[in-house]
Amino acid sequence: MRYTLSLLCILIALPAQAAGDPKLGKPLHDKQCVACHVKLLGGDGSGMYTRKPRLINSATALRQRVAVCSTQTNASWFPEDEEHVAAWLNQAFYKFK
Ligand code: HEC
Repeated sequence: MRYTLSLLCILIALPAQAAGDPKLGKPLHDKQCVACHVKLLGGDGSGMYTRKPRLINSATALRQRVAVCSTQTNASWFPEDEEHVAAWLNQAFYKFK
């Protein structure tokens, strides 16, 4: 079931490439995502996105990762929310074209 959901999120997220709004993504990310990364890495948790080698190497992989993570954390995000968070992470850290 979880797998099916993530897959669905990925499929829905793919065509809507430029739709995310970073300003909406940051608060969602700070609420749902950052605590666990901080616990793992310390600091403000952003080391997760700047470590080398990074897991994520494309905008598509980033959106997929956000979709998988939000499913795992039971955040109950809509696909738009995942787009916003992916857009913010990209703007702040990844800088994919
Ligand atoms: C329960 C802990 C936990 C939560 C909650 C969590 N993450 Fe993560 N996240 C991880 C771990 C662990 C890794 C590293 C995975 C690996 O190395 O294979 C990771 C890695 C990532 C990466 C890849 C970093 C890289 O190497 O480029 C992204 C992007 C990411 N998480 C986004 C999110 C988002 C978005 C959320 C909120 C929806 C979230 N995470 C919530 C534990 C968590």
